[in-house]
Amino acid sequence: MMGKETVLITGANRGLGLELARQYAAAGCRVLACSRGPGEPPPVAGDVTWQALDTGNEDSITTLARDLQAEAVDILINNAARRGDTGGLDTLSTEDFLATLRVNTLGPLLMVKAFRPHLERGRRRIVANISSRAGSVAEGLDADGDYAYRCSKAALNIATAKLAFDYGLIFLALHPGWVKTDMGGPEAEVPATLSAEGLRARISAAGPKSSGSFHSFDGSQIRW
Ligand SMILES: NC(=O)c1ccc[n+]([C@@H]2O[C@H](COP(=O)([O-])OP(=O)(O)OC[C@H]3O[C@@H](n4cnc5c(N)ncnc54)[C@H](OP(=O)(O)O)[C@@H]3O)[C@@H](O)[C@H]2O)c1
Repeated sequence: MMGKETVLITGANRGLGLELARQYAAAGCRVLACSRGPGEPPPVAGDVTWQALDTGNEDSITTLARDLQAEAVDILINNAARRGDTGGLDTLSTEDFLATLRVNTLGPLLMVKAFRPHLERGRRRIVANISSRAGSVAEGLDADGDYAYRCSKAALNIATAKLAFDYGLIFLALHPGWVKTDMGGPEAEVPATLSAEGLRARISAAGPKSSGSFHSFDGSQIRW
């Protein structure tokens, strides 16, 4: 009999990451739910173990990979991200820009580097990078001042395509919609439950042919 799938989710203590953890656990998966703390993680029913992980800190990533070295990971969901400064050129700062790229772009790359052995032991071998339409040059231009965030997600997109080109795992760039979370705000259109259901459907349907693709939670393709 096949064992349950193991799903590792970064930034799982709130927002979309928490909803993904809830849904995968409810579906019978083993969930390695990551939070950078320091607060107590929220209760999630099912086979969920909380792990300490700051995706902006390489030591934290390699420590977790070492602690979990006996694990096979079927699905890695690089979900953790920060919005960064939103004030356009007036408030653009080196520190904020690089901090945003560190978490949103370098973090997922370092996660893949550290967890490639765990993924290769898994059956699904999927890396789902939660990107954003905001990082699409073709579709992502809106009237706001989010230089750091948009650049970080555009860079995550090319990282996803490059990883798919270079390595034999399945790499997806996924847009979750405009989601009602702290980041999306109260005006957002998509409840986290609906977004997570759609993302899970995209991940469930993924195979080698979808590696290196960019899709929205609703299944529509997004141009790079
Ligand atoms: N909401 C939207 O409308 C929307 C639209 C497009 C794309 N997205 C993407 O969807 C994903 C989830 O967003 P969300 O709306 O759920 O955002 P959110 O509500 O702001 O939650 C962000 C999560 O990332 C974690 N995080 C941030 N920096 C971290 C770090 N250095 N190490 C570990 N965890 C860290 C946060 O942990 P703490 O609690 O410790 O801060 C939190 O758990 C992100 O990749 C985001 O870019 C969201």
